[in-house]
Amino acid sequence: MANSEFTTYFIIIILFCFTVSSTAKSSALLREIKLQTQEQDKEPFVGVNIGTDVSDLLSPADLVSFLQVQKIYHIRLYDANPDLLKALAKTKIRVIISVPNNQLLAIGSSNTTAASWVGRNVVAYYPETLITGIAVGDEVLTTVPSSAPLLLPAIQSLYSALVAANLHTQIKISTPHAASIVLDTFPPSQAYFNQSLTSVMVPLLQFLSRTGSPLMMNLYPYYVFMENKGVVPLDNSLFKPLTPSKEMVDPNTLLHYTNVLDAMIDAAYVSMKNLNVTDVVVLVTESGWPSKGDSKEPYATKDNADTYNSNLIKHVLDRSGTPLRPELTSSVYIRVVQ
Ligand SMILES: *[C@@H]1O[C@H](CO)[C@@H](O)[C@H](O)[C@H]1NC(C)=O
Ligand SMILES: *[C@@H]1O[C@H](CO)[C@@H](O)[C@H](O)[C@H]1NC(C)=O
Ligand SMILES: *[C@@H]1O[C@H](CO)[C@@H](O)[C@H](O)[C@H]1NC(C)=O
Repeated sequence: MANSEFTTYFIIIILFCFTVSSTAKSSALLREIKLQTQEQDKEPFVGVNIGTDVSDLLSPADLVSFLQVQKIYHIRLYDANPDLLKALAKTKIRVIISVPNNQLLAIGSSNTTAASWVGRNVVAYYPETLITGIAVGDEVLTTVPSSAPLLLPAIQSLYSALVAANLHTQIKISTPHAASIVLDTFPPSQAYFNQSLTSVMVPLLQFLSRTGSPLMMNLYPYYVFMENKGVVPLDNSLFKPLTPSKEMVDPNTLLHYTNVLDAMIDAAYVSMKNLNVTDVVVLVTESGWPSKGDSKEPYATKDNADTYNSNLIKHVLDRSGTPLRPELTSSVYIRVVQ
């Protein structure tokens, strides 16, 4: 096992152990998690991203029993690993599978390819394996902008294939975005989607609205903190309790923001509203805090990462929504970032 792989493995184990120990402390939290498994479709949850760095290290069976022991019932995969999907059969673990960016061209340009992708990666496993979503590409608009024109066609072809299989009500299709598609995040009331992306975002949001699918966002308060040092306090980024004077107040709405993640989520809601879309919910497909920074990243420590993840879990299970949408708490998939 290569050294870096071992480190990854180690960190994942720590995260899982930490998730459990921090929840085991409080029976109230344990009750929350039980409730969460009973009403998985309605209640906000915390899931975990499973990268190939993890799935390459543990056998599918070991990974699945590990998730079960740790009571992790929601995962997102960056692909549609057949062995893992098989191993997830007859468990309560709900899974978002992904279309890697390098398959967008094939799927976006042929309905036949999209249909066979759905046949091979969804129909073959569902419902024994609880596939609940398909993430089409990852941060396509910012990392492979040349593929942007393929995004909606790929989503629509996959959706048609799901309709043909009569699975479109159970399985939602969307695409995860980088936080950077939203500009001027603070104050959230002034946020908007990068206007260069409007021609993609408008039909995409209309699709999400029509199909009851979420806007998937990868949101890392760490980077907002790093880019606005001195303006955004560390405590707000880590969900630490704040004195009222440290809360950020949106001057237009007078809403008080006690943490950066809520501000990022509300910025996404405001950006959608600017495009007249108000009925699409935000799903945080990735969040986390880097733990192994170099000398230029003194805040990327294991302590801060643990604090972030633990407070994030509490925040989601508190179900207090965001200042703008208190009735709506976004579910979050944690990603362990080095
Ligand atoms: C895929 O099918 C849809 C309707 O089912 C159609 O509008 C679209 O043009 C087709 N796309 C391709 C690339 O054939
Ligand atoms: C907005 O998007 C365009 C096209 O992807 C990009 O070139 C530009 O840098 C983005 N603007 C900002 C402020 O991020
Ligand atoms: C949103 O609605 C307003 C008012 O009806 C309209 O002026 C604007 O063009 C719409 N914007 C989009 C992107 O549809």
